Amino acid sequence: MKQRQLGRSGLQVSALGMGCMGLSFGYGPGVDRAAAVQLIRQAVDRGVTFFDTAEAYGALNEEMVGEALAPVRDQVVIATKFGFKDGNAMSGVDSRPERIRAVVDNSLKHLRTDRIDLLYQHRVDPQVPMEDVAGAVKELIAQGKVRHFGLSEAGPESIRRAHAVQPVAALQSEYSLWWREPEQQILPLLEELGIGFVPFSPLGKGFLTGAITAQTEFSPDDFRNVVPRFSVEARQANQALVQALSDIAASRQATPAQVALAWLLAQRPWIAPIPGTTKPQRLDENLAAADLLLSADDLKRIAEVLERVPVQGARYPEHLAARVGR
Ligand SMILES: NC(=O)c1ccc[n+]([C@@H]2O[C@H](COP(=O)([O-])OP(=O)(O)OC[C@H]3O[C@@H](n4cnc5c(N)ncnc54)[C@H](OP(=O)(O)O)[C@@H]3O)[C@@H](O)[C@H]2O)c1
Repeated sequence: MKQRQLGRSGLQVSALGMGCMGLSFGYGPGVDRAAAVQLIRQAVDRGVTFFDTAEAYGALNEEMVGEALAPVRDQVVIATKFGFKDGNAMSGVDSRPERIRAVVDNSLKHLRTDRIDLLYQHRVDPQVPMEDVAGAVKELIAQGKVRHFGLSEAGPESIRRAHAVQPVAALQSEYSLWWREPEQQILPLLEELGIGFVPFSPLGKGFLTGAITAQTEFSPDDFRNVVPRFSVEARQANQALVQALSDIAASRQATPAQVALAWLLAQRPWIAPIPGTTKPQRLDENLAAADLLLSADDLKRIAEVLERVPVQGARYPEHLAARVGR
């Protein structure tokens, strides 16, 4: 697996990481602990060194990551996140320094480790000045409990304020063929400051793979039930995008998922996407995208499709949209 540097932080990760959320959170029931541990170890065997979890995905999620990676702890980069009230994304944000310290101590236990390689603030907390958040993480770094600081879905001003107190190694925000807003202000800012970028939902929460249609029924606790972009009408309309991408993929003997990931890798050398899956064969399929080099002509064809086929539906319901870009 090819390696990438997250900006000028000195943090090196595999070009594709593994998003572990869906193993037990967000998209229905997930898989049992033994299967999750096995899948994470499969990723390690394929050369993945970058693993993503969060307090908000539940203690079990961090525990599965910790159990799977304990035998290879020194060879991998473990990223987790703090920032929600009682660790529950539904309860609102909470980045008070005392809470950050408590979350880190819990995460270290769940992850069976003595340091978190990359600690992200999951969402900006308007009640806590960013300087205080960055200051709290800076202290944790000085204590050796954390190695690098990250932000998620933060806006340009928050990124600058955080970076001035404690250099930010990576921003983790949504970025994919169907959500390209970061291209406007965020990517140029990260380039300027030397911050790496970790696109989450790089497969459009599964939609860009072609495996989801208007007929797909999500389980009742699947987050996509409340996402406007996953309404039946939006799925119907957005199928045109997937079809066009599938044609381009076929011309390269690749799958749409692989094209979606290779496209992200082609945008900047300091980008490391973290696709998620619960299935061994899809893990292998996705990881093979690290070796798919899109040509200038491929990228031009993709750009033409994106220009021609507008995406329908908001990426978040209103109450959650208010939390991003602050
Ligand atoms: N910072 C944040 O706020 C935030 C928000 C969301 C996610 N994340 C992180 O980003 C990671 C990835 O994002 P994500 O899980 O939201 O979305 P994603 O990686 O874009 O897509 C995951 C979905 O795609 C399906 N899938 C994966 N590979 C596939 C393939 N080759 N063919 C068909 N379907 C495929 C998976 O289903 P199966 O399991 O059935 O394969 C799953 O439903 C998460 O695990 C999490 O760590 C962070």
